[in-house]
Amino acid sequence: MSAIGVFDSGIGGLSILKCLREALPSEAFVYFADSAYNPYGDKSDAEVIARSFTVTEELIAKHQIKALVVACNTATAAAIHLLRARYPELAIVGIEPALKPASALTKTKRIAVLATRSTLVSAKFLALKSSLESQAEFVCVPCIGLANLIERYAAGAASKQEVEQACKSFLAEAGAFDTLVLGCTHYALIEPIFRSLVGANVTIVDNGEAVAKRLVALVQATPHMASEPILQLTGSGDHTLLQLAAKRWLS
Ligand code: DGL
Repeated sequence: MSAIGVFDSGIGGLSILKCLREALPSEAFVYFADSAYNPYGDKSDAEVIARSFTVTEELIAKHQIKALVVACNTATAAAIHLLRARYPELAIVGIEPALKPASALTKTKRIAVLATRSTLVSAKFLALKSSLESQAEFVCVPCIGLANLIERYAAGAASKQEVEQACKSFLAEAGAFDTLVLGCTHYALIEPIFRSLVGANVTIVDNGEAVAKRLVALVQATPHMASEPILQLTGSGDHTLLQLAAKRWLS
């Protein structure tokens, strides 16, 4: 039996794992939270690449994964091409900020994109943005510290008010917009907070379901990949926090 590996710099990828499990209810998943190295967003590309290789090696060696989902925009931008080159036999799916769906949805043609600093300066993101710039204006806000604050919020070490305050000031930097892209998987966990701050008239988008669709296509293309629907949680940090976060965000 072999599972689908999913990793992120911490608990953020649980927002993707929820979509994956809904789309593929009979598959086994192993989720790796690299919380000891969170946040990735403030690290150099070299460090994020090194962590991505280490985590993937562990998922292959200990869990014999048959496919990998990089449930992290930052790691996808920095490392997915290198992961694909090193593991050509492994089906690998990544995530990028949902600029494409956002540009199809916006009416005012002004879209706010919240993501980590590393994602927003990556070549992959800049290429995606410039391919869509004729359709809308993207106001990109690097939310430095937000992913880590969400980790601390999940652990009970930061309050909801602190998270709201941080989100409020990042949103204020964006000015006026009618579509909001949550370009970091951690931010999708606190979508209700963003909703309460932007009101009902703003469309909020992320790429969780698009990633699930891509994985479904890969799994369907390889029928021998079927396994049993179990979930294993692992990682480099506090296991109790991961268990608690999974209970909170996967149900
Ligand atoms: N959740 C990750 C992402 O989607 C990274 C957050 C971080 O560690 O900075 O980019």
